[in-house]
Amino acid sequence: MKLINVDDAREAARRRLPRIFFDYIDGGSFGETTLRANQADFERWRLVQKVLVNPERRDLSTTFLGVRHPLPFMLGPVGFLGLYAGKGEQKAARAAHAAGIPLCLSSFSIASLAELRRDTTGPLHFQLYILKDKAFCDELLQEAEKAGVDTLFLTVDTAITSVREKDVRNGFRSLTRVGPALVLQMLMSPRWFADIMQAGAPQVGALANKPEFGKGVLEQASNLSRSIDQTLSWRDVAWLRQRWRGRLVIKGILSADDAERAQAEGADAIVVSNHGGRQLDCASSTIAMLPEIVAAVDGKLEVLIDGGFRRGADVIKGLALGADGVLLGRAYAFGLAAGGTEGVAAMIQAIAQEIDISLALMGIASVEELKSLGRSALRAP
Ligand SMILES: Cc1cc2nc3c(=O)[nH]c(=O)nc-3n(C[C@H](O)[C@H](O)[C@H](O)COP(=O)(O)O)c2cc1C
Repeated sequence: MKLINVDDAREAARRRLPRIFFDYIDGGSFGETTLRANQADFERWRLVQKVLVNPERRDLSTTFLGVRHPLPFMLGPVGFLGLYAGKGEQKAARAAHAAGIPLCLSSFSIASLAELRRDTTGPLHFQLYILKDKAFCDELLQEAEKAGVDTLFLTVDTAITSVREKDVRNGFRSLTRVGPALVLQMLMSPRWFADIMQAGAPQVGALANKPEFGKGVLEQASNLSRSIDQTLSWRDVAWLRQRWRGRLVIKGILSADDAERAQAEGADAIVVSNHGGRQLDCASSTIAMLPEIVAAVDGKLEVLIDGGFRRGADVIKGLALGADGVLLGRAYAFGLAAGGTEGVAAMIQAIAQEIDISLALMGIASVEELKSLGRSALRAP
């Protein structure tokens, strides 16, 4: 099946993956209200069409996180990529790098940062959860420094893990080993299984020297989740700001007050995020919160956004409402599960093409011009 858009990739991923993993990617918390709102609220905005201008060539490049990128989006941190495709982190990173954009590696990954650095050459960022064991946190930061990472994302919206009901039903995270029901699901996904096994039995890369977290990836994942520090507070942000000399991005901000506090604590950027509707259900969509957060920080720190971005038009709306750049989540995770490196590349290409064509039809020559037009490039329906 040709992957023309994210819906195609989602459907192909659904067919290819064991249900437990598809549901883990696809699902949201509790009633999934926020998950739905993240996508649905893009409908509140329409793009302004402008004819007879014909910008001959469009320039999609823009600056975010202090660097000029050829596209206004990057691949955000998504856990366990190496369970959706063999060597999944490497495959996603290669597709990102071929397009000239960074991947942010999740702490919950099959490839360790050192492995991914060894296997790929483009820009890599790292996402950290604050763990109860601060010495282990420090080891992860040292690994990031050794790998030459200059931008660290601290995720702050998951100190307490919410309930994703599909995962509860499937036993994701409560399973500590592969039982008969899971074996059956795996046997029903033979292409996925062969691909994963070729890469070797998956383990959480960051736990390679930590036998106390258990053996198989399922046991490691549930123990690692439990080791996240539930008392996470602004004090930890202050500690990290002292400890980490590179660029610090706080991911999981959803209010103007918290955005101002992040700036006061010395963050260089924030990601307006509700973890893709996987944490506080009935929280606002990110696109709805973006304008007031952008107004509150008033250019004093960079504002990135994620949540529900599936289309080039969604990215245009995010940029017009003041975001410096966009992070993709499920859009590329589905691409990876559906078709490995080519699947991720197809999603990047589809979204980039839609941005390019839409800008042309809006009479806008570049992402920079779109950013300076701001909200005037949009209309309420
Ligand atoms: C399967 C999955 C795993 C994720 N794992 C992480 C993670 O390990 N760390 C993190 O900061 N965010 C994680 N996220 C959240 C994403 O970084 C991002 O906020 C979210 O996916 C954006 O919403 P979207 O998928 O609708 O684009 C995960 C999201 C998904 C779907």
